[in-house]
Amino acid sequence: MDERKLEPGRLVVASHNKGKIREINELLAPYGFDVVSAGELDLPEPEETGDSFEANAELKAVAAAQAAGLPALADDSGFCVEALEGQPGIYSARWAGPDKDFTMAMRTIEEKLQAKGAVDPDQRRASFVAVLCLAWPDGGKAFFRGEVHGEVVWPPRGTKGFGYDPLFRPEGHAVTFGEMESQEKHGWSRTTPALSHRARAFEKFSKACLED
Ligand code: IMP
Repeated sequence: MDERKLEPGRLVVASHNKGKIREINELLAPYGFDVVSAGELDLPEPEETGDSFEANAELKAVAAAQAAGLPALADDSGFCVEALEGQPGIYSARWAGPDKDFTMAMRTIEEKLQAKGAVDPDQRRASFVAVLCLAWPDGGKAFFRGEVHGEVVWPPRGTKGFGYDPLFRPEGHAVTFGEMESQEKHGWSRTTPALSHRARAFEKFSKACLED
């Protein structure tokens, strides 16, 4: 683990996913980086051939750091449903198909839960997982993992956020991620602990690499 401090300057966000880039930019905003996304730099999108969130985050961060000659931060994340043995997990983006049809992907999850007779909340437990990898152009890297637990609701609720947000109600909250403004989904402020998987991973990254 290479947890050296990251000084303000250019930082690549190694993602081509608009929802993630927006959230990572919001989380980075207080720290004064000159943030540029992999898409803006025309960097190729590496194939996610890893078999874990860590492996895929590393693939993306290392490829971007090497190509750009700058530190790069990648997020690999997904939605894990307990009764489906953790699926879709690292395949969360793929379940939405080439058209990125998350209405279909959410319906697939519900159909699989129905097929298992999973109607009670405790049979519908799920979590979001995010692993951030910070890669340096000299080969150094560090990983930060965040998880948030809750349940699959049906029908999906809310039009905010992205991906599987409307399907997930975090523990201790009445509304889904799809019904939350992004500040509420991050949950992270000077007085409140992080809520979303991404903000929880980011909080660890920030403690290790951004704060004195
Ligand atoms: P990947 O990390 O690029 O492989 O894609 C992760 C996929 O997981 C995204 O395309 C979303 O479908 C899903 N996902 C990850 N984080 C979130 C989130 O915060 N809200 C909703 N869906 C998410």
